Amino acid sequence: MIQLLEIENKLHDEVRQGEAYAPVSDSEIAYKKHFYIESYGCAMNFSDTEIIASILNSNGYGATKNLEDAELIFVNTCSIREKAEATVRKRLTEFRKLKEANKGLLVGVLGCMAERLKTKLLEEEKLVDIVVGPDSYRSLPALIEQAETGQKAVNVLLSREETYADISPVRLDSNGVCAFVSIMRGCNNMCSFCVVPFTRGRERSRDAYSIIAEATELFDKGYKEITLLGQNVDSYYWYDEKKDQQITFAHLLEQVALINPELRIRFSTSHPKDITDEVLFVMSRHENVCNHIHLPLQSGSTRLLQLMNRTYSKEWYKAKVDRIKEILPNCTITADIITGFCTETEEDHQETLEVMEYCGYDMSYMYFYSERPGTLAAKRFEDDVPLEIKKRRLQEVVDMQGKLSTAGNLNDIGKTFKILIEGDSKKSELAHTGRSEHNKSVVFPKGNHNFKKGDYVMVKVNDCTRATLIGEIIA
Ligand code: SAH
Ligand code: SF4
Ligand code: F3S
Repeated sequence: MIQLLEIENKLHDEVRQGEAYAPVSDSEIAYKKHFYIESYGCAMNFSDTEIIASILNSNGYGATKNLEDAELIFVNTCSIREKAEATVRKRLTEFRKLKEANKGLLVGVLGCMAERLKTKLLEEEKLVDIVVGPDSYRSLPALIEQAETGQKAVNVLLSREETYADISPVRLDSNGVCAFVSIMRGCNNMCSFCVVPFTRGRERSRDAYSIIAEATELFDKGYKEITLLGQNVDSYYWYDEKKDQQITFAHLLEQVALINPELRIRFSTSHPKDITDEVLFVMSRHENVCNHIHLPLQSGSTRLLQLMNRTYSKEWYKAKVDRIKEILPNCTITADIITGFCTETEEDHQETLEVMEYCGYDMSYMYFYSERPGTLAAKRFEDDVPLEIKKRRLQEVVDMQGKLSTAGNLNDIGKTFKILIEGDSKKSELAHTGRSEHNKSVVFPKGNHNFKKGDYVMVKVNDCTRATLIGEIIA
């Protein structure tokens, strides 16, 4: 069970603390107030936190990494599963003591939970002063001023246009090498289990010029890897009025790849129904577009996929994976999987295991189904798979993934990969850590070389654990 908990805690429910740097040091600027921000949920939420920090900075608020120094505390929240919300609620209660000690302290709940629960958050958590949904961050400075007068401040309006395209994010918690660039917001897919269309609103794509400008600026500042982010990047669509041209994700990816061959490009997430051959061809044409696709499966049973409203069948998904491997033989594929969705039988579950094996995923994010109020599944279907069965099936999925990841890593032994160094290994200052284009973590001794963070280096893999490759620099 510990293993399951660890997995539930990984990435999607990750806590990212307010590792914000202020653009000018505190001694040079007299900030109105200091804010502390932490972020839960997906990479898009983390990217939003960087936009929020930018909006606050340019309105005279300085970031602090220390909760105790903050006059404003913000939590950028996630609603994707019940547990994600429970984690935030628990965290909020921890701020009560600080509020009692400092009467002027304001607490703001931002993001998906703010959007889902709206003013209910003010009632339920007496300590919340500000509630702001994902499309309303520009109004944060005005809302802070309102809350300072003792009035509760709420803005949860969703927008059809807001992309924050003109806002240059403050890079938080950054290693100076890898950055996220948001290319679209919202989601139109309405997967029946999913709360995102309700918390993030309609899908809209960001101005392509602003994306390319942001990526170029990052490269000029020394960043070497950017991840283009959206709930469904392959449905990116933007009309370039200047050139009377329709820009698809394939076009955008190619334009970003052309910024510089030294800049690595990743993207996430791809909905299997939308990823096109054109995208795969762009990937094969440009060495700097990483050979890795995150292609959520959710379930291997066509009947369940239909109930989930995923719009593909098991066979269609497998054919998509075949096509990826045909065009990109060297591409790794990772997935998201849900166990115990409404009416799931043992046979359905076996089909999920079978598809996992067929696709040979290198990694997956695995969850048991958590009913979200207001979603299509909550309205239409009964959450009828008992929790123990959901968890047992999840464990089987986790075990299958362990087997596949180990096999994939063993297969890498003896091979040499180009690694982008991201920093020191967690365990030793004498070793670097970085990733291959396949998104596999690789740890290797620094040796007598002078390589540093942000450099590319050829590394030969000699050994592995389930999650990490271990190698040595090939001069
Ligand atoms: N837009 C992405 C995923 C966003 S949410 C996509 O479509 O692939 C990330 C993952 O959380 C989903 O892929 C799904 O596996 C999981 N998830 C979403 N809603 C869930 C729920 N109600 N219960 C359990 N897992 C869920
Ligand atoms: Fe949710 Fe489906 Fe949209 Fe992904 S594609 S965010 S799972 S509705
Ligand atoms: Fe969570 Fe919202 Fe992302 S619900 S997964 S933070 S889009």
